[in-house]
Amino acid sequence: MSDTDYIKSLLKAHPDFPKKGIVFLDIFPVLRDPVAFETLITHFVHHLTSKTIPASSAKKIDVLVGLDARGFLLGPIIAMRLGAAFVPVRKKGKLPGECVTASFEKEYGIDSFEMQSDAIKPGQSVVVVDDLIATGGSARAAGELVSKLGGKILEYLFIIELTFLKAADKLDAPLYSIVQCD
Ligand code: ADE
Repeated sequence: MSDTDYIKSLLKAHPDFPKKGIVFLDIFPVLRDPVAFETLITHFVHHLTSKTIPASSAKKIDVLVGLDARGFLLGPIIAMRLGAAFVPVRKKGKLPGECVTASFEKEYGIDSFEMQSDAIKPGQSVVVVDDLIATGGSARAAGELVSKLGGKILEYLFIIELTFLKAADKLDAPLYSIVQCD
């Protein structure tokens, strides 16, 4: 079985969660299976270090930015494997010190994200990671935060992409996903 099929087979769909009409795709069964989790992380690391991916191989990756909350479960591990920094993007009001802020509309509501102002230095190369991209609102807001600090996004990275929501059109850098759902 391919990496993609293995990971896909473990994703669990929960209809009408957290609201009626949303089919929530749960990644936690992947993290519960140590071989699947290792396969997932190695897949991402191979992708980011592959010479065949121009957007990712052109430059050294300085920072992995993980989105609140499930991006926190992926970003630090990928960052450590790459020798890169990990930086969290959190919901507004959770981070101490001076922060930059960006708001966004998501599949089920409106929210604001923050990043610590000294987390990224101008000119640093950044990859943004989360478990799933739906409308792309949260990824776009994270991109805005990185840009405000002078960082350059090489790629947006996800386990799952809801392709029918066309998030890729909203982003200023390439999007990579392991599993596409339409
Ligand atoms: N985040 C936004 N939409 C989602 C979905 N359908 N499943 C899991 N996480 C999500």
